[in-house]
Amino acid sequence: MYPDESDDRQLLRRSIREFAEREMRPHLLAWDEEQRFPVELVPALGDLGLMGIEVPESLGGAGMTRTGHCICLEELARVCPAIAVSVAAHNGLCIAHIARFGSDEQRRRFLPRLASGEHIGAWALTEPSSGSDAANMRTTATYDHGRWVLNGSKVFITNGRASNVVVVLAVTDPTRRSKGISAFIVEKDTPGVRAGKKENKLGMRASETSELIFEDCAIPDDHLIGEEGQGFTQTMQILDGGRVGIAALSVGLAQGAHEAALRYANERIAFGKPISAFQAIQAKLADAATRIDAARLLTYRAARTAEEGGPVTLHASMAKLFASEVAVKVADDGIQIHGGYGFVKDYPAERYSRDAKLATIGEGTSEIQRIVIAKHLKSPVARPDVAAVGGTVR
Ligand code: CAA
Repeated sequence: MYPDESDDRQLLRRSIREFAEREMRPHLLAWDEEQRFPVELVPALGDLGLMGIEVPESLGGAGMTRTGHCICLEELARVCPAIAVSVAAHNGLCIAHIARFGSDEQRRRFLPRLASGEHIGAWALTEPSSGSDAANMRTTATYDHGRWVLNGSKVFITNGRASNVVVVLAVTDPTRRSKGISAFIVEKDTPGVRAGKKENKLGMRASETSELIFEDCAIPDDHLIGEEGQGFTQTMQILDGGRVGIAALSVGLAQGAHEAALRYANERIAFGKPISAFQAIQAKLADAATRIDAARLLTYRAARTAEEGGPVTLHASMAKLFASEVAVKVADDGIQIHGGYGFVKDYPAERYSRDAKLATIGEGTSEIQRIVIAKHLKSPVARPDVAAVGGTVR
């Protein structure tokens, strides 16, 4: 498949690809139409290690590297980006937050059941009035006699309904903005937490997205992750990792859309020959292949940086920005190559295009990625005085 990959990685890629083709491909239209997350798929995802991709084997996970994690998301998204986004939120946000910043006791208590797929995880940051400006949240957590009491509402929460465990970000000190935000583990059967409206979405319809509402939801004080006030910087670091995952998902989505367009272009006859013989179509296919390769290189560079413990923020945002916009472009060109058949649901082209758009919004919009990237640039234009010694754009 990708000759530069090691045998182990090719084997992993092949096994996820075969699973996705066999267990997911036949149901794509139904899941999309019904707008239903297929919970019946979760045990099989768990058996493949996809519910605990980077969780150590000692805690019941698959113990994969970040590169392996990206291969899993890429191959799921090549067939069904919506399942990939649910798996990404479960692993890259909920599990990652507990694994990276939780105590040993929290890891032992929550990770094994999440990793097996017995429990589904969600991560709750966004609120009706705080999306890109994440620190501006209003959900509060107030300490009261050994418990934290949560009040507020979160929106656009992937796995909001199906989840059993949610990592929730809430304000514990409203005077300190980002330094007054803390992270908590909330079990969904706790009184006072419930899923609200399920969103009716343009794309990613087999992944469910809903509100989460907290009304005097009291949780034990040992459900605080790390220390009070650390929640925002934890969040930024979790998003750095999550964005590498969304980049991988975007690469897989673009690959799936490209393969569908290539297949159609080879089969469809116009003016006596396959349309792939026409240069206008060839140019689109060639551009798509080149863009996908570039996106894949950026994505796996970011994964390697994370594995080596390097500063991943810049590489993650570059990969996420580029790969998600490639996915949108490749999927859109895929519709154009399919012509009228690209506009109907008998072919997968329109679904890839609807799904792709989310990748430029979720886990930080393209605009936010550009802000993050610009902050890392040494710019003689913005700061001529400090550029010579390596200043940073502010
Ligand atoms: N790593 C570590 N620390 C970081 C960091 C990083 N990548 N980025 C920022 N920080 C730290 C800063 O150093 C700063 O700490 P100090 O004050 O000690 O220096 C602190 O965090 C605050 O940083 P900023 O002042 O830069 O914060 P800001 O309020 O200006 O926001 C932002 C920065 C990049 C715009 C950030 O708000 C952001 O990423 N917004 C987008 C949020 C987002 O991606 N939301 C999507 C959620 S996904 C989802 O909800 C889907 C689902 O299914 C659950």
